[in-house]
Amino acid sequence: MKLLKAFWQRLISPSKAAVGIVLFMGFAGGLLFWGAFNTGMEATNTEEFCSGCHAPIVAEIQETIHYSNRSGVRAICSDCHVPHEWSDKIVRKVQASKELFFHFMGTIDTEEKFKARRGHLAEREWARLKNNDSLECRNCHEFEFMDFSEQGPRSAKQHSTALASGEKTCVDCHKGIAHKLPDMHGVEGW
Ligand code: HEC
Ligand code: HEC
Ligand code: HEC
Ligand code: HEC
Repeated sequence: MKLLKAFWQRLISPSKAAVGIVLFMGFAGGLLFWGAFNTGMEATNTEEFCSGCHAPIVAEIQETIHYSNRSGVRAICSDCHVPHEWSDKIVRKVQASKELFFHFMGTIDTEEKFKARRGHLAEREWARLKNNDSLECRNCHEFEFMDFSEQGPRSAKQHSTALASGEKTCVDCHKGIAHKLPDMHGVEGW
């Protein structure tokens, strides 16, 4: 009884050591949580992860310039679809968890269903990129460093006018650069 009381006393009157231990455990727990959280974030950014549900898209992209080019620099799914900014990333992950729901609903799990819904999905992606001024494209393609003299005349003309003035953003003019353009028949506004 006495022992228990002494023990209790120690518990309710925290010594410096106890405070230290609690602080340390909090810190270690925080670190562990942070580590696991970030590992989870990284794992969900790999192409393998996306290909689990988007196999047709992964196959298709191998014929485009963002998969194979003279410079050997690749853009993977998450470069274009997951913002680099940490806070934006979390927002996108939360939005993306809805994909899990649609996955179980089976909205794009056959070729026919995917074809039918593709225009709608593309439109959502264009709207997202329009909204953030093609942020993900600009992570790699910086307007300030575009050398117009190295670009074709068509490119230089458009980039030095509509792009430079901010009137248009990358996805306004560059649709279907990484994927086949969907059939837009029946999609609202087309
Ligand atoms: C668990 C399955 C699953 C995984 C894994 C998955 N997706 Fe999806 N994704 C879906 C489904 C299902 C849809 C269609 C949602 C609908 O029908 O509205 C979708 C739609 C999309 C769209 C269309 C735009 C939108 O907002 O709906 C994009 C872009 C996309 N996914 C990118 C990715 C990328 C990039 C990855 C890897 C980082 C990924 N997805 C991983 C199931 C998944
Ligand atoms: C991870 C980096 C990266 C991201 C993100 C990226 N690109 Fe690229 N892009 C490249 C590279 C590398 C090339 C090939 C450059 C070369 O070899 O000249 C390229 C080439 C291009 C080309 C030239 C096509 C051609 O046929 O010559 C266009 C247009 C383009 N990108 C537009 C975009 C748009 C629009 C986005 C956003 C939706 C985007 N890129 C996102 C790296 C990226
Ligand atoms: C107003 C329309 C317009 C906008 C906005 C625009 N582009 Fe372009 N871009 C073009 C045209 C047109 C071409 C030439 C395509 C062709 O000749 O096939 C081009 C070509 C390119 C090329 C290839 C350059 C070359 O000559 O080899 C790249 C890379 C590119 N664009 C990236 C971008 C990126 C990144 C953005 C956003 C920061 C962007 N473009 C915004 C119209 C635009
Ligand atoms: C260079 C940038 C870029 C890369 C890399 C990229 N996407 Fe996209 N994605 C886009 C754009 C832009 C759209 C809007 C439709 C379009 O223009 O093709 C889109 C549309 C989509 C859609 C909606 C349906 C459709 O076909 O339009 C899905 C799903 C998708 N992407 C998944 C992926 C997956 C999975 C990968 C990796 C294998 C990937 N994307 C790689 C830029 C990219």
